[in-house]
Amino acid sequence: MMKERPKTKILVDGGDPAETEKIKSLLGFVDGQTTNPSLIAKNPEIQQRIAAGQKLSTEEQHEEYKKIVRQISPLIGDAGVSIEVFADLGTGSDAMLAEGREMFSWVPNAYIKYPCTHEGLRAAQVSVQEGMRVNITLCFSQEQAAAVYAATVGSKAPVYVSPFIGRLDDRGENGMDLIQNIQRMYKAGDGHVHVLAASIRSTDQLLACLALGVDLMTVPAKVLEAWSATGLSIPDKRFTYKGVDSKGSPLRPIPYKHLDLSKPWESFDLKHDLTTKGIERFVADFERTLQQPKHIA
Ligand code: G3P
Repeated sequence: MMKERPKTKILVDGGDPAETEKIKSLLGFVDGQTTNPSLIAKNPEIQQRIAAGQKLSTEEQHEEYKKIVRQISPLIGDAGVSIEVFADLGTGSDAMLAEGREMFSWVPNAYIKYPCTHEGLRAAQVSVQEGMRVNITLCFSQEQAAAVYAATVGSKAPVYVSPFIGRLDDRGENGMDLIQNIQRMYKAGDGHVHVLAASIRSTDQLLACLALGVDLMTVPAKVLEAWSATGLSIPDKRFTYKGVDSKGSPLRPIPYKHLDLSKPWESFDLKHDLTTKGIERFVADFERTLQQPKHIA
């Protein structure tokens, strides 16, 4: 159990309510939860059905996702449960928005996850105008985070942007620099976008997020368990992150860019190869559980 709650809200990154319960008893609380198609595909009940040779229809998959989210929703605090729309590289904003509206009705504390693409941000822009809470996922650049800010100005609820630390680290770029650069850039803003650090694979990344005072971090249960085994310590600002890439080599710094948050969101460069690969990976994981793939991007 944690004696002192950190400034950073702690979310479980997963798709299994039993895991969320376990972390809640370890920490004494769980502020929120993030889910995504890959994590839902790993849910034990879905895995059992697949192992028994029963692939799901799209409707069954949707119903399973709703059931899982409804089990998680009452277990968590005010950071909500993030639910991701189905999006392949060809999905338009209208389709994402229609699914987002439906998913938003599943639970009272939903955040709808849209990918950090042009279509995803169009859907997010309309969503916040309609009063929906959103989480923009697969963010890998400061430009993308600037676009998230500009597209969602005026949102009544905090908007989440999810930079993926681990996937940048994997290829040798310091993901923690991206977090710091976004925090620095947002200082000039109105505070409506909260940074939700994601793709956290190690206790070192978790500790670095706490030291930076990131607004929120989403962490797999196994990393939270490893942190708990070391006493749930909260580092101070002097903590230095010594990340390495997938081959164990030191990380390259990501330089800060001066960007004007008052520019139209469409003027920022939204392209990032890791966003594209991330969408492809979510689609592949989602489709592995289906009888008939919905669409191959
Ligand atoms: O929250 C995002 C996360 O689920 C992705 O993590 O480890 O697949 O990069 P990872």
